[in-house]
Amino acid sequence: MANKKRIGILTSGGDCAGLNAAIRSVVYAATNLDWEVIGIEDGTAGLLSRPMRYKVLTRGMFDTTIMRLGGTILGTTNKGNPFRFLMPDGSFKDLSDDIIAGLRELKLDALIGIGGDGSMDILRRLSQQGKFNLVGIPKTIDNDLGKTESSLGFETAVFVATEALDRLQPTAASHDRVMVLEVMGRDAGNIAITTGIAGGADVILIPEIPYSLDKVAQKIISIRENEGRNFALVVVSEAVKTVDGKAIKVEHEGGEKRYGGIGHYLGELIAEKTGFETRVTVLGHVQRGCAPIASDRLLAAAFGVHAVELVAAGKFDRMVAWSNRSVIDVPIKDAIASYQAVDLNGTLVRTARSLGICLGD
Ligand code: F6P
Repeated sequence: MANKKRIGILTSGGDCAGLNAAIRSVVYAATNLDWEVIGIEDGTAGLLSRPMRYKVLTRGMFDTTIMRLGGTILGTTNKGNPFRFLMPDGSFKDLSDDIIAGLRELKLDALIGIGGDGSMDILRRLSQQGKFNLVGIPKTIDNDLGKTESSLGFETAVFVATEALDRLQPTAASHDRVMVLEVMGRDAGNIAITTGIAGGADVILIPEIPYSLDKVAQKIISIRENEGRNFALVVVSEAVKTVDGKAIKVEHEGGEKRYGGIGHYLGELIAEKTGFETRVTVLGHVQRGCAPIASDRLLAAAFGVHAVELVAAGKFDRMVAWSNRSVIDVPIKDAIASYQAVDLNGTLVRTARSLGICLGD
């Protein structure tokens, strides 16, 4: 068949819920057109290995259990920027040409890359350097990629974090405690503010709004003194800074930085300032590894189908996106350029304030 194509697909960056559902959707839509789908393992790492690591993905591999599973059957990596790859001797090397050589050897008509802003940027640079056809599918629990209302994995992460608040509330009430829940999200407070509103938090701290510890303490004390309630729920986003403006980060081999620790830091200060017994839960990767909720499965299905439609139409350098209940597509460069943090004048901030939730300011 003249139009028969061979396309590649990879997942890149941190895993999240909905990746397997999106891979399945691409495989179904592409094989319906009689195309061949090559699943590349561990993101660009599979293209750097020699022999390369990949497998032909067939419909038969996708029984109905796979779309329900968290993680990614292809594997992924959020380390190893190919333009600055950490070598075993500690030096850095540009391995972009090796990846491009790998892609050429696979003779792909197009590559579908499922990733967040960092991965989209790397894949786009590779596609321009290697002149191959790229379509992006957005995924990130942080929901910080622009031009799409939602990225794969975000809604599920919020669901998990909200469920955590549902579980923390009765134990907080039973023991007269403040419960601090630290959630992920990198530099964007999207998970924190959405979860905090949905889960009935009293305080939500996000990186976009500088906080005063006194304001947080006043809110918690007034809950006890004015509302007669003996517990409080606090949600804090991992990139919120210390009172003296420092981010709590750990630097890993290769220079990647990971946030973590602000929950415990604030927990101690809140206990000191309010006299409330305080406990801290750091939700961490629990937000990533679970089965996708229905809305993420729907997004995955629509994104996968539209990515294949873009390849069929010869529209490249574009990312599928969600807008106004529909799937659309946007230039990848625009999505990367328009970082999506919490809108300080938007619905979520206004809603939180009107509900009396303390945002720390
Ligand atoms: O970008 C997704 C994310 O889960 C962030 O929210 C978090 O800061 C980071 O990845 C954690 O990365 P890792 O899996 O390397 O610990």
